[in-house]
Amino acid sequence: MNGFETGLLGGRAWFDVADGTRIPLPAERWHATTAGGDELLLAGCSGPTVDVGCGPGRLSAALGDLGVPVLGVDSSPVAVELARRRGAPVVQRNVFERLPGEGRWRHALLADGNIGIGGDPVVLLRRVGRLLAPGGSVLVELDPPGGGVRRGRARIATGGAAPGAWFDWAWVAADAAPEVASEASLHLDWVVGHAGRWFAELRKPRRDRRWARSVGHDRTPDRHGNPDSDGGVGAPA
Ligand SMILES: C[S@@+](CC[C@H](N)C(=O)[O-])C[C@H]1O[C@@H](n2cnc3c(N)ncnc32)[C@H](O)[C@@H]1O
Repeated sequence: MNGFETGLLGGRAWFDVADGTRIPLPAERWHATTAGGDELLLAGCSGPTVDVGCGPGRLSAALGDLGVPVLGVDSSPVAVELARRRGAPVVQRNVFERLPGEGRWRHALLADGNIGIGGDPVVLLRRVGRLLAPGGSVLVELDPPGGGVRRGRARIATGGAAPGAWFDWAWVAADAAPEVASEASLHLDWVVGHAGRWFAELRKPRRDRRWARSVGHDRTPDRHGNPDSDGGVGAPA
């Protein structure tokens, strides 16, 4: 359990931030079919993709339907069960634990605010960068320009059930993308506003000594998103 279950189970949901602010969450979108800007994320995934914090799996399922090898990753058993019911290949795993295909994925998704996972976007992007093959990219959803980077403790609340547990989260506005990409040793390919949402693509360099330790052999995952046997749970490299 990671505090998201209250929102994953459906209904209107929002972030209660420890500083007293309340941020609405698109929880209905997590359960819907892909729409309203998702097509831009899907179009960016031209090869094996790891969907980090896949939730109920709408993007993983859609990529699978398009014939793109995909693996959803979510630390919540509720999310994993919902994604499986939807037919998405998924593993229950914290993104900071060892994952299948380390260093070999062509794309990673951080959709719907998931750049906030763990509470430090640079640490998360470095971790996701280690999942990518050289030249691979992470497609990230951002907040509208103007907010910079904000970090805080948050919990998910709904109109009905008791709020979930507190956890660390972060919010990154589109204008902060260059700074965050640079700190994570990724190249910012583009930032765009589309269908009322904001997205960016950050690329891992093909050759860069900062990534040298984590660059693995260049095999890609198979069509089930399960490239090898190195998916055991353990400390990240
Ligand atoms: C905003 S929701 C998912 C929305 C989903 N990406 C979508 O677009 O429909 C965030 C998800 O991230 C998952 N999550 C939070 N922390 C995580 C972590 N450290 N590792 C993996 N998943 C995590 C939560 O369980 C939750 O399902």
